[in-house]
Amino acid sequence: MFSVAVDGPSGAGKSSVCQAAAKELGFVYVDTGALYRTIALYVLEKGLDPADPQAVEEALPGIQVDLAYTPEGQKMSLNGQDVTGRIRTPEVSMATSAIAAIPAVRAYLLGLQRGLAKQNCVLMDGRDIGTVVLPEAPLKVYLTASPEERARRRTRQLEGSGQPADYKQVLEDIRQRDYQDSHRATAPLKPAPDAVMLDTSEMGFQQSVEALVSLVRKKM
Ligand code: DC
Repeated sequence: MFSVAVDGPSGAGKSSVCQAAAKELGFVYVDTGALYRTIALYVLEKGLDPADPQAVEEALPGIQVDLAYTPEGQKMSLNGQDVTGRIRTPEVSMATSAIAAIPAVRAYLLGLQRGLAKQNCVLMDGRDIGTVVLPEAPLKVYLTASPEERARRRTRQLEGSGQPADYKQVLEDIRQRDYQDSHRATAPLKPAPDAVMLDTSEMGFQQSVEALVSLVRKKM
């Protein structure tokens, strides 16, 4: 099985670029952020504080997270209910950044992620895939773009899905999440020492996909 670890900050286009590249390569695209988001949704729905590690850790045994791969992409279910759409709100994004800093949450999701890479050729997207989840992956890519460009893209994406979006607020959220994700004690966002840097600030979507596909083909 061939694994590609793709890490990078929020809104760099990792998910759409990885999804398209995986399709071209015949790989399974694994969106690990969706796993953390599903746990965050559960925590919010139970009225728990996402920043309270003890409360979140105690809730974990009541959470069953499942993934399914369909032609429309990765579907997430939480205790048997499809939550694929509901994990994409700004509230869930913020709560996810908090719960992702909790070591017990990261440990809880580790086996699931490694299991997927054992059974499939994967393009796995996250924050610590090259550093923690798949440190032996033959190809590690750090896919990024400037905060301003990421905020422009996220604003367009939210507007496109009919959600209210304010560029300044989106930029502020991105900066705050970058800070939280890269300053946490457990598995902080950072490039693996042997990661290939792919900055897409000046690239269009198709160009980014081709750049990633070409990196994979060179390594296979
Ligand atoms: O990629 P995303 O925006 O769906 O990620 C949501 C949050 O989850 C983000 O704050 C970072 C965190 N995350 C993480 O800590 N580790 C991962 N492997 C994936 C996401």
